[in-house]
Amino acid sequence: MIDLRSDTVTRPTPAMRRAMAEAEVGDDVYREDPTVNALEKRAAQIMGKEAALFVPTGTMGNTIAVKMHTEHGQEVISESRAHLLDWELSMLAWFSGCLIRPVPTSDGILHWKDIEPAIRPLSSHCAPTTLIEIENTHNMAGGAVYPVDVFEDICANAHSRGIKVHLDGARIFNAACHLNRPVRDLAAPADSVMFCLSKGLGAPVGSMLVGTAEAIGRARGYRKRLGGGMRQACRGGTDRAGRNAAPVGRRSRQRPASGV
Ligand SMILES: Cc1ncc(COP(=O)(O)O)c(C=O)c1O
Repeated sequence: MIDLRSDTVTRPTPAMRRAMAEAEVGDDVYREDPTVNALEKRAAQIMGKEAALFVPTGTMGNTIAVKMHTEHGQEVISESRAHLLDWELSMLAWFSGCLIRPVPTSDGILHWKDIEPAIRPLSSHCAPTTLIEIENTHNMAGGAVYPVDVFEDICANAHSRGIKVHLDGARIFNAACHLNRPVRDLAAPADSVMFCLSKGLGAPVGSMLVGTAEAIGRARGYRKRLGGGMRQACRGGTDRAGRNAAPVGRRSRQRPASGV
């Protein structure tokens, strides 16, 4: 039976299980786990960013990303069916003290013309917008994929206004596969990207957060605060999933679900 409820029910392959059993481990909170260090290096390379952080879940990755880019009392723009808004237990309010300003679309794909009117400047009446969050592929919009130029346009305009962009790329390899582009092209304009190893890539747990070395350095502290420092987590299988994630996302083609 092929279980199509979700790509989160995918299981590790025998090669991944072997890699887990044989993985060299150490204390990752001391940054002494060679497998995690190799995984983080590889994730940063694949995404074309300076640094990466291994986190237990995509939700924690998004939570930390919002914290990295905002201060309490600010606004974050997202599409109105974003995972961050509907399925992450308001972590953005709880941990970062921010509010989401949701922007509805018919197909899940935001354009700059949709976003611009929702931006709030700092004034005596408004909390400022400091972050835009984009989900690619968009889960609740049936796995909708952002055209690269649409995302580039959003990021260029956001940056010209001093606003950061976080990409929830839980299934970014599916998007890369669909567009037949290296995943780093999709990640390039974003300030940070979260992607999941635990979904179509088949690892039992784990997600990666990538960005600048400075931001990821802070992210490491937020991960510890959230209880996400996992010591020896035997992540060989996860590293294997990372290595399986070919730059154009070749393997995700073989997996059942695309953003469902
Ligand atoms: C788009 C998107 N972002 C983030 C997550 C959160 O991932 P996790 O379940 O690992 O917390 C999911 C989970 O399905 C998702 O679909």
